[in-house]
Amino acid sequence: MKIRIFANPHDAGIYAAALAEVVVAAKSRPVLGLATGATPTVFYDALVNLHRCGLDMSPVVTVNLDEYIGLPTDHGQSYHAFMQAHLFSRTNLAPENTHVPNGMAADLAAECARYDDVIRRNPIDLQVLGIGVNGHIGFNEPDDLLLSRTHVVQLRQETVAANARFFPRMEDVPRRAITMGVQAILQAERIILMAFGEEKAEIVARAVLGDVRTDVPASILQLHRDVTVVLDLQSARLLPEGKAGSAREGY
Ligand code: PGA
Repeated sequence: MKIRIFANPHDAGIYAAALAEVVVAAKSRPVLGLATGATPTVFYDALVNLHRCGLDMSPVVTVNLDEYIGLPTDHGQSYHAFMQAHLFSRTNLAPENTHVPNGMAADLAAECARYDDVIRRNPIDLQVLGIGVNGHIGFNEPDDLLLSRTHVVQLRQETVAANARFFPRMEDVPRRAITMGVQAILQAERIILMAFGEEKAEIVARAVLGDVRTDVPASILQLHRDVTVVLDLQSARLLPEGKAGSAREGY
């Protein structure tokens, strides 16, 4: 894994967006795997800036990691709405090229199969990931096993608690989601894992330095050959001494 540590999330976001631009520029039909949450907003802001400075997003295909079950797409906290607000509406991405699981599907098993087909038809060139405080990637929660395909997941209590900051009342926080499985994530050509803030320091250290374990889902990224971990000083606090902004190989 390559580790890059920045003075602040803003600088880290610019770096991640620059990596995305390299991928977009290199392909005629680039596919970006995208994440939601507080972490990637700096990445989207920087990508939108690059777009305003000339980066053409019209050939880009996007495939999002996950969506809550039971929130209409126009609900302010749905991941559809998040992506519209932070990226889709601010660039020239073609709506038909953007993919997010449908958490309102009547037949959730069919929706999972449909989404796996979307992923098969659009192999991901660059997957952007955040990490949950419990180590989840997408909504692949810590467990005795990890599922490879797109699936319905019961969110863990700590995830529901973390998500509660975005909802007016605890009972409004969705308890289930559809998530891409670990196979789709690991099949991405290149991966960027982003994490910021003191509250991520412990899980980042476990994911990067610890054993590969299904109860730390992000640790499975150690098995991928092209992962860049993009951190700020706080989230990198428990990694061995290093220099901010330096590349450190060999973890
Ligand atoms: P956050 O969530 O970016 O809002 O901290 C990350 C995640 O749960 O994957």
